[in-house]
This record gives sequence, C-alpha cells and structure tokens, in this order.
Amino acid sequence: MGEIPFNFLNYLEGKIGEIARECCAFGSDFQPTVRPADAQFGDFQANGILSYGKRRGTNPRQLAGQLLAALEKDSDFSARARAEVSGGGFLNISLRAAALGEWLAAYGGAEEFRRAAAAATDLAGRRIVLDYSCPNSAKQMHVGHLRSLAIGDCLYRLLSFFGAKAIRDNHIGDWGTQFGILLRQLRVEGVDLASIPAGEGLDLLESLYRKGNGEVERSPEALAEARRELVALQNGDPGRLASWKKINELSYESFQKIYDLAGVEFDLVLGESFYRNSVGRVYGELLQCGIAEENGGALAVFHREHGRFREQPFLVRKFDGASNYAATDLATVLYRVETLGAEEILYVTDGRQRDHFEQLFLTVKKWFSAKGYPLPTLRHVWFGTVCGVDGKAIKTRSGEPVRLQELFDSAIAQAAEILAEKNPDLPPDERKAVARAVGVGALKYGDLSQNRTSDYVFSLGKMLSFEGNTASYLQYALARIGAIRRRAEGESVRAATCLEPATAEERAFARRLVLFPIALLATLEDLRPHLLCGYLYELACEFSSFYDSCRIFGEAEEVLGRRLGLCEVAANFLAMGLQLLGIVPLHRM
Ligand code: ARG
Repeated sequence: MGEIPFNFLNYLEGKIGEIARECCAFGSDFQPTVRPADAQFGDFQANGILSYGKRRGTNPRQLAGQLLAALEKDSDFSARARAEVSGGGFLNISLRAAALGEWLAAYGGAEEFRRAAAAATDLAGRRIVLDYSCPNSAKQMHVGHLRSLAIGDCLYRLLSFFGAKAIRDNHIGDWGTQFGILLRQLRVEGVDLASIPAGEGLDLLESLYRKGNGEVERSPEALAEARRELVALQNGDPGRLASWKKINELSYESFQKIYDLAGVEFDLVLGESFYRNSVGRVYGELLQCGIAEENGGALAVFHREHGRFREQPFLVRKFDGASNYAATDLATVLYRVETLGAEEILYVTDGRQRDHFEQLFLTVKKWFSAKGYPLPTLRHVWFGTVCGVDGKAIKTRSGEPVRLQELFDSAIAQAAEILAEKNPDLPPDERKAVARAVGVGALKYGDLSQNRTSDYVFSLGKMLSFEGNTASYLQYALARIGAIRRRAEGESVRAATCLEPATAEERAFARRLVLFPIALLATLEDLRPHLLCGYLYELACEFSSFYDSCRIFGEAEEVLGRRLGLCEVAANFLAMGLQLLGIVPLHRM
C-alpha cells in the first residue's frame, strides 16, 4: 500500500480518476469530484459519473457499476475503503476502520499533523503580503474594524501554517483628506496638540474632525482651506508635518491597545504616507506607458474596455495635485513587489471598496506588463457589514459607531461574570486570563464564524453563549477533554497507540477527526474562516455526543486507552483550530 493519505478527499478523487481511465477506458474529460457525505450515506460521495455518462450517452448507473468493480480490484483502494453505487450514478464511499486507525496514528499528533499540512500544498516559501486592519488615523476603531482585524489575522495564521512566508502590513490611512480637515480645524480653534494629555488625544481629535467635516460640507471656503492644508502637508510644510506626526502617534497609541488585547501583531506598519515620495514615479510611469490621461492637474486611468468602468475613471491624482488613496495604493504594490518580493497580495477590506480594488488591479496589470515587472497575484478578500438588529450598519443610540475598545472591554467583563457563576473555584489570577481569552475569543469567533461576504447582525449575548456555534462552546469542549486528560494522568492510564475504532460511536468520532485537513484546505482555498469554524463546531458536538454515550474510565484497558486516544486527537485539533482562528485555547475554564 502507498503512503497514508493525509487528505482522503484528494486521495479518492485521484484514485477514482486513475482507475476510471486506466481500467474502465473512461475519457480524460471524466473529472470525479468527491465531497464529505452525510454520515448516514457513508463518509464521502463521488460525483461526476452522471454528467460523464450523459455526455457519452451511456447509462450512468452502469458506468458506476463498472467503476465500482474496478475499484474493488484495486488493492490500495479496497484496503482503505468500501464503496457502493447509489442514486442515478454516485458512489457512496466509507473508510474502513483500519484506515481510520492508521490515519489517526499517523497524523493525530499536533507535530505530525503540522508537518503533513506543510507538505500538502505548494505554499511553502511563497511570499504573500497580507494587508489588513489598516484603520484611518485620527479616528477611533469601531465595531466595523473587527472584521478586517479578525479575518486578516486568521488568514495570516492559516497561510503560515501551510508554510507560506506571510508578511503582515498594516497600511494605516495616514495621508488622506482627514488631515486637511483636521489641520484646518486645529488652526481655526487654536488647539495646541502638545498640550493634549496622553490617552485622551484621540477623543479630542475625533470630535474636532467631526466638527471640521461638518464645516467643509457646509462651506465651500472651508473646503478650499482644508484642501490647501492637505496640499501644504503633502508638500512637506514643517509645522504641518509636526502636527501630522503627533496626530498619528496619538492614534496609533489607541490602535496598539486594541491589537495587544486582541493578540494581533504586524510585521510592518508603513501607512499611506510611507509612499509620499514614490507617487511621482507612479504618475510618470503611467503617463509614459500611455495608461493615464492628464486633465489639468488631475491624472486618471480609464478602463474603457471594461463595461462598468467605461465612464468611471480611476482617479490617481487630484486636480490640485494632491495624491490620493489610489496613488498610494499603486505605489504600495510596487514597493511590495520590488522590495518585499511579494508574489501575492491579499487585501482584507469591506465590500464597498470592491470597485477601488478592481480598478487598482486592472491598472497594475497594464502598468506592470508594459514595464515588464513581475505581476503578483492580487486578491480582494472583502467582507460584508456588521449590522444592528434593524439590519443597518450598527450604531450607538446617539448614532455614533460602537467603539471597538468598548466592545472588547465589555466582552471581557461579561465573560468574567459568566465564569464567576459557572466556576467559582477558579483561582482569581487564572480567572482573569480565562475571562480575557473567552471575551476576546467570543468577539473574534462571532465575526469569523459568519460567511465573510454576508452581512451579519451583531449580538454580544449570542457570541458569549456557551451553547451553539461560539468560541466558548469550543473552549469548553477543549477544557472538558483537559479534565479527562488530567484524570487519566492522576490514575496513571495512557492513551493506546492503536486507535482503530471498534464501536459505532468511536467510528463517528474518528471519522470527524479525519475530516480536519479537508476543512482546513477548503478554508484556505476560499479564504473563508467560517468553514473552519463550522468544522470545529461539528467536532466539538461530536466529542460531546461521544462522551455522553460512551464511558472512558472504568472500561477495560484497551477500550479506555483507545477512547482516551481519540479524545487526545480531538484536543489537538481543537487547540490547533482555535489557534489558527487567533483564539486562545483553554485547557481549563
Ligand atoms: N484605510 C482604509 C479604510 O479604512 C483601508 C485600507 C486598506 N488597504 C489598502 N491598501 N487600501 O477603509
């Protein structure tokens, strides 16, 4: 027999395709697809025979029968699985208990699993820049900023797990229009930035900004003044640069508090302003390649071949010569390719920026091909809106966005209350750490478990619940296994090395474990963390029903050892999965 397949879905697709072509004379257009099946029908279902048969004008059930007979003759396949024809021409496939046992022995340990995962894709060493979080300076992070933070951090962990060289870059919005407005307002009100006490800066700046924004919306003169402020700043006026620097420091201080709390880190925090001296090259090259058109001071790229963008140019320089979001983003791609060696760039932002990124990607493609620069893979990993119960973007009662810092604080406080009630014996020190892990985990998981391209209704109560698809439910399942492990240690009993399931309950549990790589690879493929969340939730449920119906302690040594071993593999996977989501795994709570 060949080596033990890490990913059975892949193995089965390969094997069925091979046998069909080699032993049953199927054409090369036969592409079987295998997916995990509903447990009552087996472990996997193979499709593709139906459509192939229809194309050939041959009865699909007959073809499926032929294929089944050939598969049964293949010693590698039949040692691992059993199949039957079903419906109009599917194959239902079940793994043999021995194959499940062998897989668990080979990949059930955290280290073994990690090694196999790193070899399962071609991501090893691939340089991928992840652009996420990226709040705008001078404003507080609000609930909407949770998404980019949670999703970006999770994707970083996932890509690194599979061996990619991922680089986290926090592209702060620190060079845009808000500075013109803010600098003008500081001047009008005579505010001295140096006198702002540490820790309070951002509140003040935010209210000044809001006021200033109102004024530029009402008065064309104020708007012109704000524009002149921005141009003066971008031209390097020393006084304005000093204020700008102070504003950024005050802002980043408050962002850093949230990052620390959320356990999120960055390799680079360059920001839009980092590219202020590189935009000139961008303008020059776009003009030289005939991609951009000048109109007064403005510079625009037209994608006339593109339906939607025919009438909607990509503005890369404003009429007054100021650089904009598009200009710095273009310079950023160049820097990431030339200096960071990026082969791929992922942008994690909300879906309202889809047009911006589509136009950015089109422009980069034309520009880089004209110049002969290596073209990176560019992907916009966009997400939907966080809504209030009314279905609209979530706001406080006074109409302001809900602050992220306050959300984290109240999630941690509520977690502490729940824990005090559920487990009053937890020592105070540990309770604090556990409350933080539960509170922060609840928020992150609440976000990650939603399909990223959908909007979702925010409910802290639901996120913190110990029931249902929540972080606490997973953390609690892990803690229950932790208690089993501690008891086993106390009684000096050990997990068995042979984990071949012997009862229906053990089999169901083992089968769920074997599906872990498949869930991870699906998450990676689509860059959708909710797929991993869904798997971990099912695994926690499976453990729970296993533990409710099967005794561990008090069974004969062999049975006890096997069940203990299954629980240990589940704990390894739950802990690994939570870590990949950026959530602290708890072995006691
Ligand atoms: N600062 C932007 C915002 O708040 C997000 C930046 C995303 N990254 C980028 N390279 N454009 O919407």
